[in-house]
Amino acid sequence: MRGKTAVITGGARGIGESIAKLLAKMGANIIIWDVLEDQARATADAIARNHGVKTLGAAADVTREASVEAALDAAVKEFGGIDILVNNAGVTRDGLLIRMKEEDWDLVLSINLKGVWICTKAVARVMLKARKGSIVNIASVVGVMGNAGQANYSASKAGVIGLTKTSAREFAARGVRVNAVAPGFIRTAMTDKLSDEQRGRLQSMIPLGELGTPDDVADAVAFLASDRARYITGQTINIDGGMVM
Ligand SMILES: NC(=O)c1ccc[n+]([C@@H]2O[C@H](COP(=O)([O-])OP(=O)(O)OC[C@H]3O[C@@H](n4cnc5c(N)ncnc54)[C@H](O)[C@@H]3O)[C@@H](O)[C@H]2O)c1
Repeated sequence: MRGKTAVITGGARGIGESIAKLLAKMGANIIIWDVLEDQARATADAIARNHGVKTLGAAADVTREASVEAALDAAVKEFGGIDILVNNAGVTRDGLLIRMKEEDWDLVLSINLKGVWICTKAVARVMLKARKGSIVNIASVVGVMGNAGQANYSASKAGVIGLTKTSAREFAARGVRVNAVAPGFIRTAMTDKLSDEQRGRLQSMIPLGELGTPDDVADAVAFLASDRARYITGQTINIDGGMVM
């Protein structure tokens, strides 16, 4: 990874932050795009201090093409090129389908799916010109198996898996690979709030018997982003303790 530059969307915190830290530990320079500008800067600064790589935390809203284009221009000016894009920004607005509000449908589809298309379109231009690059999209097992209460989220993540395959086909001849990971239940601030009973119920659905960690996701992303995965494109790896097989 040394000398490579990686953009991580939604990397100010959570799974994206873990991915940014691991790629930095492996030697990559890190650019974080997030709507949380202060947090993006703080995370990027901490990574630079701890791992001795070059970093940049910038405001970018993945749902707005102009915002992403401006962030991309600044990134290319500063870093020269982009080797890795991790489309990680994502949100949930859960509710049963028949009660779901149109604004919750639109918001989730806009950030989770349209945002991946906008960032891919922008960054791929740089990668296709350089005839190299690796894109990793963060989907979800819910996009593979569905989940009651997540019509908008599951549709967005299934869309990400389809988009991954199409971009992989369109970019393959120019040396750019595109893959996805589909995390299952991952330990985050949200799942830490669950009661023992709720956590027990979740764990009983997972063959490996425990929730995953953001580092479990980061390890798979780092592999797919690296040259060790040079012969892999268009694939989705489930990181879910065996829940979907
Ligand atoms: N946590 C899980 O269990 C889990 C499971 C499967 C998939 N995922 C996926 O992993 C990814 C990261 O999730 P997380 O749990 O770390 O969530 P998180 O809320 O901690 O982080 C998401 C980040 O995306 C940023 N973001 C939101 N809207 C944005 C926008 N319009 N433009 C730019 N950035 C934006 C947020 O500010 C935040 O920093 C998401 O795509 C999520 O769907 C999470």
